[in-house]
Amino acid sequence: MDCKVIKQLELRTKSKQISLGVLESGHVCLLYFGDRLAEKTELSYVIRDIQRASYLSDTDGERDFRLEQLPIWYPAFGNPDLREPAFQIEYENGSRISDFRFYKANYRNQKSKIPGLPSTFSEKAVTTLEIILKDALTENRLHFFLSAFEEYDMFTQSIQIVNDSRETIKMTKATSLSLDLLDDRFEMLTLVGAWGREMQLRRTRLQQGFQGVDSKRGASGHGQNPFIALVRPETDDYQGEVIAANLVYSGNFIAEAIVDMHQNTRLQMGLHSFDFQWDLAPKESFYTPEIVFTHTNQGVNKMTQLFQHFYLDCLINPNFTKKARPVLLNNWEATYFNFNRQKLLALGREATKLGIELFVLDDGWFGERNSIETSIGDWQPNEKKLGSNLQLLIQEFLDIGLDFGLWIEPEMVSPKSQLFTEHPEWIIQVENRKPQLSRTQYVLDLSQPAVQDFIIQTIKKILSENRIRYLKWDMNRNITDSGSTYLVGHQKELGHRYILGLYRILSEITTAFPDVLIESCAGGGGRFDPGMLAYTPQIWISDDTDAVQRLSIQQGAALIYPNVCIGCHVSAVPNHQVGRMTSLHTRGVVAFQGNLGYELDLTTLEETEKQQIAQQIEHYKRNRQLLQFGKYSRVNTFDENATAWMKEDEQHLWVSYVSVLAKPNTVPKRLKLPLLVPEQRYMDEQGNDYSGTELMTIGLPIPQVKEDFIATEWRLSKSN
Ligand code: DGJ
Repeated sequence: MDCKVIKQLELRTKSKQISLGVLESGHVCLLYFGDRLAEKTELSYVIRDIQRASYLSDTDGERDFRLEQLPIWYPAFGNPDLREPAFQIEYENGSRISDFRFYKANYRNQKSKIPGLPSTFSEKAVTTLEIILKDALTENRLHFFLSAFEEYDMFTQSIQIVNDSRETIKMTKATSLSLDLLDDRFEMLTLVGAWGREMQLRRTRLQQGFQGVDSKRGASGHGQNPFIALVRPETDDYQGEVIAANLVYSGNFIAEAIVDMHQNTRLQMGLHSFDFQWDLAPKESFYTPEIVFTHTNQGVNKMTQLFQHFYLDCLINPNFTKKARPVLLNNWEATYFNFNRQKLLALGREATKLGIELFVLDDGWFGERNSIETSIGDWQPNEKKLGSNLQLLIQEFLDIGLDFGLWIEPEMVSPKSQLFTEHPEWIIQVENRKPQLSRTQYVLDLSQPAVQDFIIQTIKKILSENRIRYLKWDMNRNITDSGSTYLVGHQKELGHRYILGLYRILSEITTAFPDVLIESCAGGGGRFDPGMLAYTPQIWISDDTDAVQRLSIQQGAALIYPNVCIGCHVSAVPNHQVGRMTSLHTRGVVAFQGNLGYELDLTTLEETEKQQIAQQIEHYKRNRQLLQFGKYSRVNTFDENATAWMKEDEQHLWVSYVSVLAKPNTVPKRLKLPLLVPEQRYMDEQGNDYSGTELMTIGLPIPQVKEDFIATEWRLSKSN
């Protein structure tokens, strides 16, 4: 029988394993993905025991061989599986049918980079299984690079498609992962939202058909993050099965869970096939973006810890893996465009008194930029507004005792700018159509090497002429009028080529200036993804700085992304986005969840407020290692009005609790903590001593609500 497993390929981490079966027919199937099994566990029965269903096509003339029922590793369309394909190639004769079969496989104790794309890496043990499939008719090959990160219990995959035929082929779909699971008893976790309310955790039951998230905006987007997880209905933060995937990519993507007619689930993720076509000439290769995926039976918190740990060690710029991040003041909400030298220095002087370490000059420092109407692209400092050249201004900040950071939005151009006057052909546009504006700006066509070179040179010049420690890389609109005057005859390559251009630019800049901390931003969290994280170890998560809104936004981002990578600022009240009043204490507790900054006019604060901020900063700095890099868990409050989380390192445990609506006549409750070592002793700052078991089963006392917003923190020291 052709569907007999003749070879088992295995990839293991310290506690997980993926087992693939090569069938006699040459098709490759997923036999198992889960907890590590005993060595040499034979799993061919997984395929053998699948019963034949009706009305499905036979394979290779075998009546009992129904490919459509099998867990295929990278399914093709129509040959003869008729479910959603993982890829599609169109040939010169109009055929869209491919038939890739096993050719060979090898193991390596290393992982290679992906040409032109960001990818994970590790100093520690990594095994890569390369599986090569070949289509006998066309000679084309698929190379799967499936890597297992031993210590991290994480897997990655990227696929190389090699055109070994004599014709140019058109790739119309190329996902990075397709996982066939043999049941549908799952719920789907995704991160959805919009500008100002990014990363809202959504949990929905799977149903027959399609469900998922995507972006067609030219960026990963505020609306749907390139993340998907399948969990069992009984799974919660503390226990249960989770299968999760995250795409290392910043452009159009799709992540879907597709339940077929026989209650199997196909989980797929990768480049969006919408408006995508890539022409591959003979001998050329195409690489899919890398996907990161994992499995746990220990609940959603465990998934969070696996991703956070992995991204810190194996994705972000190694210079920042353990480096304490500075407490900053950003002038955006303090001044918007309305500033001059005196104002900036006045803010700087207050900042340094309060313990702030870095001043970030946001939008408005260049060209004629005093509103969103003009000057993007003209990156010459406005010396009139700054009162001197940029070097002298920076020197004044250094003299005050502050490092200096600068905002830039390099991917854009204003119609009212010298750059646009000189290079109208550099924008994304469609011939004979007037391009649409958004935030009064156009998007530069990053598929053009000349545009890439301009941006690289511009930023290199700014960074080499000025002592800039930090760059805020903004991107404030999505791509409309998807068209390129450069990609003649290849218009559907624009989306991906834009992102490849962006990665080339970021790669050149981070190679030349590896110690400059880059915070990326896209009107807040419009491009918060692992592709950007690979170059920018910090991302501004939302333009909504309201402490209450930030609770779900930040908890959502921290579902997979490290807390230290999430920009969290204390801003003014009434809050500029929602008008809400919150106490300075609450704003501080919430901002301590990630990377602390301030974004308000310090010169207008009362003395008592300044004292409070100084104390906050001092407190944060004293616990910076724990707060920025501690192991993070969500704590279930069993109360929809309250959010809690904790961070832990070898010596301390930090617990934060924020209740957002006061209710009268309540009695104080206790907050039970998850996943502690039962026999470990923990002492709070009042000298109360608890065991891990007590904290997990009895919990910490939550103070009674006395004001509208109550935030509490506990810092517990570990002892034996
Ligand atoms: C959008 C960003 O998210 C803000 O923080 C600020 O930098 C503005 N752009 C400036 O135009």
